[in-house]
Amino acid sequence: MKKSMAFAVLTALTTFSLAHADDAATQGSTNRAQQLVTTVCAACHGADGNSTAPDKPKLAGQGAEYITKQLMDFKAGKRVNPIMQGIVASANLTPEDMKDLGQYFHSQVPKPGAAKDKDLAMAGEKIFKGGDPATGVPACQSCHGPTGAGIPVEFPRLASQHAEYIYTQLNNFRLGQRANDGGHMMRTIAARMTDKEMKSVAAYISGLQ
Ligand code: HEC
Ligand code: HEC
Repeated sequence: MKKSMAFAVLTALTTFSLAHADDAATQGSTNRAQQLVTTVCAACHGADGNSTAPDKPKLAGQGAEYITKQLMDFKAGKRVNPIMQGIVASANLTPEDMKDLGQYFHSQVPKPGAAKDKDLAMAGEKIFKGGDPATGVPACQSCHGPTGAGIPVEFPRLASQHAEYIYTQLNNFRLGQRANDGGHMMRTIAARMTDKEMKSVAAYISGLQ
């Protein structure tokens, strides 16, 4: 009886100190992530991930795993972009940092956007919801969700993203300049889209909340 009591206390103590050590480690890495956000990422993406520059993607509310994957892809050269590849290298991001940065931006609240060109956005809504059966473009909502909120872990959030950034990515997928999509999913789709379709669906996405 006495023995098992002592064992229970010991177990509780060990669990406590382990949990405590874990907390301290998490706290330390979160502080580093916070510091990276303030000193590096904020300049382009905004401290709360709501970038205002149309060529710099909003990160607020984006899937944590998706963000981590993109950072790893930039580091490995699987996603090519001189700016981000330079940042990942110069900030010396570790796998731990990439995870923490994903969590940080995921937990930020995305600010709603508004489509600038309403007519274009209306044409884009058709593609987003129903695709283009004539050319075999699938509905975007089937993978990115009916409101563009994304379906973790694989399918990124698109809602309220800058139209210019969305269009650039679609065009990069079409040209094969962005080729880090598993199973060629986005390259196959973008190859079937016209320039007009890309612009209109980008306009619609920018106004999705
Ligand atoms: C000098 C400007 C700049 C800074 C600083 C910067 N970024 Fe970026 N970031 C960009 C640009 C531009 C893109 C779009 C690249 C492209 O078109 O492929 C981007 C793309 C990204 C993406 C991909 C987003 C998506 O939707 O696929 C992630 C994730 C990202 N940045 C994270 C970060 C993090 C984390 C930091 C800080 C450590 C950071 N960035 C600092 C300019 C910047
Ligand atoms: C079969 C599933 C699927 C469908 C359908 C689909 N996507 Fe995607 N999309 C993906 C995946 C997976 C990724 C993430 C690729 C990666 O890991 O980098 C992605 C990424 C994207 C990105 C890059 C996001 C960013 O933040 O950089 C854009 C833009 C995009 N999709 C637009 C669309 C549009 C527009 C449609 C409809 C015409 C569409 N997608 C349909 C699977 C899909």
